[in-house]
Amino acid sequence: MPKRTGIFVTGTDTGVGKTEVGRAAVRLLRDEGLSVSVMKPIETGVGPEGPLDALALREAAGVPDAIDLVCPHQFSLPAAPNVAAEEEGRNVDLPLIMTTYETLRAQRDFIWVEGAGGILVPVTDDSSMADLAKALALPVLLVARASLGTINHTLLSLAEIDRQNLECVGVVLSHSAQQTSEADLKNLRTLRKTLGPRLIGELPTLEEGCDAPDGWLRPEALLG
Ligand SMILES: Nc1ncnc2c1ncn2[C@@H]1O[C@H](COP(=O)(O)OP(=O)(O)O)[C@@H](O)[C@H]1O
Ligand SMILES: [Mg+2]
Repeated sequence: MPKRTGIFVTGTDTGVGKTEVGRAAVRLLRDEGLSVSVMKPIETGVGPEGPLDALALREAAGVPDAIDLVCPHQFSLPAAPNVAAEEEGRNVDLPLIMTTYETLRAQRDFIWVEGAGGILVPVTDDSSMADLAKALALPVLLVARASLGTINHTLLSLAEIDRQNLECVGVVLSHSAQQTSEADLKNLRTLRKTLGPRLIGELPTLEEGCDAPDGWLRPEALLG
């Protein structure tokens, strides 16, 4: 059995590639022979198609779990969880997240949990994503975008993860289609050097429906 049996994914921001990295990482873990549960405890900005992150992660995991189990809180306002909940006169129910998590965790070898936004995004009025990762007792993986601005966002996020005494699995850079400039590439070289071994993988720009190339992330870096 792997040393680590779960990961909580956070990002330097929303829209940086957490779900894209999650899908590829879950497939990698399954290729290692592990069964994987997935969870998006709170998804906001949910429209009529349902919670798209949770659906994408569930598809990657190939599990038949009910979507309300994978994603126990779904809110329509595309805002932080406490803000989106308040808009609907609802609350984020932390005990519900804990019991749902325990159910999913007990079912399989590994559990992949995606937070919303970044590490200090509020979950309730008095708790953050960092508190949620602590409550779930999970180490944190940081996903960062590969374009300009990422050095500051990445180092700030890592500093906060360290300050909160969370175990950090490492950083994964996700190359969404936009960043190709010479300045971006030079910036990235600096970030790679600064991170050293904390940089555990880079997900190249994936075309729709394509798998990540071999070697983008070593399974041992996830499993410990
Ligand atoms: N490596 C990548 N290849 C292709 N598209 C990407 C990649 N990383 C991110 N994107 C795109 O960027 C957008 C945001 O990514 P997503 O994974 O949804 O971010 P997050 O989960 O952090 O909000 C999506 O449209 C996604 O397809
Ligand atoms: Mg996402």
